[in-house]
Amino acid sequence: MNRIYLDNASTTPVAPEIINEIKPFLDEHFGNASSIHSFGQQTRNALELAREELAKEIGAKPSEVFFTSSGTEADNLALKGVVLATLGKPIQIITSKLEHKAVLETVEWLQRKFGVAVDFVAHDERGRLDLDDLKRKIRPNETRLISIMHANNELGNINPIKEIAAIAKSYNAIFHTDAVQSAGKLKLNVDELGVDVMAISGHKFHAPKGIGAIYIRTGVQMESLLHGGTHERNRRASTENVAFSVALAKAFKRSQQNLQQTNLHAQSLQKAFLDALSENDVPFRLNGDLENKLPHIVNLSFPISAKQKLAGDVLLLALDAAGIAVSSGSACTSGTAKPSHVLLALGKTEHEARASVRVSFSKFNTMEQASEAAGRFANVLKRLL
Ligand SMILES: Cc1ncc(COP(=O)(O)O)c(C=O)c1O
Repeated sequence: MNRIYLDNASTTPVAPEIINEIKPFLDEHFGNASSIHSFGQQTRNALELAREELAKEIGAKPSEVFFTSSGTEADNLALKGVVLATLGKPIQIITSKLEHKAVLETVEWLQRKFGVAVDFVAHDERGRLDLDDLKRKIRPNETRLISIMHANNELGNINPIKEIAAIAKSYNAIFHTDAVQSAGKLKLNVDELGVDVMAISGHKFHAPKGIGAIYIRTGVQMESLLHGGTHERNRRASTENVAFSVALAKAFKRSQQNLQQTNLHAQSLQKAFLDALSENDVPFRLNGDLENKLPHIVNLSFPISAKQKLAGDVLLLALDAAGIAVSSGSACTSGTAKPSHVLLALGKTEHEARASVRVSFSKFNTMEQASEAAGRFANVLKRLL
């Protein structure tokens, strides 16, 4: 049985041309980018070129771009870094319950360890944020940071980042956006978006796992999380991962050149998949803001009777057995799969959340795969509906 990978919001395969870009840095150009000798200078040059390339693509200065080990690290640095630089003053962070755990768990930790006040912007049942509620929750002189993701990783919803940035600016709050899911799908110009801090992660756009980047606008006060050498201009001690930084910059640049093509392809795949589900008489409901979302993510709920006890990730496992890799957005904690916190925050019951899946496409998926997958969904669901 040929397996069909439709979990690209979790991670994407590394593009063959990116693998070729990395290879020289794994053998002949292995020098430590912080070494004075020519081996080091060679990799230093490649690293700084990668930084310039990425900075240019997002409309930033190279001095505002730092490589990290992941999107999670970039989000942690943004939130903890700003709070640690502000300690001693009253601090309130405003975020939303629909954020990735990299943000939610970090703000929860900051609340617990440092007494930071955390408030959540209200949203409706489709995950659309209520900006009037955001304005009401702002405490002038206390709201130091607003952190709202650019696009939601489970629903695909695109948030009104420019409007939120303008609100943050009018209250002198720093605005951080987790752009991990939008990177490679939407144009990310930091001035057009109005963001102060932005996190991205290479493995969402065909670079390897284990490399991310953070944009930090000049003037934003932020403490470091890693101390040691003077790497990344004192922001992040650790011998630089030159190979993967080069890969991230190249993959990001390529994604930006092909934005329209990628999104059109994702739209066609989505349509083919949903049409084929309907042709196969599979009943489903779409979750999220259908008017304003990334086309490569589709989140669907199936009307599986509550009498069918869906323990853990039964649906995902049944789909996997049928050769379809999709996701539920659940976090696997000590062997028990919890239902998606995003779907629960939209008001779904645990059962409804477990009867939902996220299907996510990439440029490597074909129309044949989209319709073949829908047929296999129909077979699996026949047994459950
Ligand atoms: C929105 C969002 N933020 C952060 C992350 C974490 O990124 P990484 O896997 O690079 O740690 C992810 C990964 O799924 C994500 O989707």
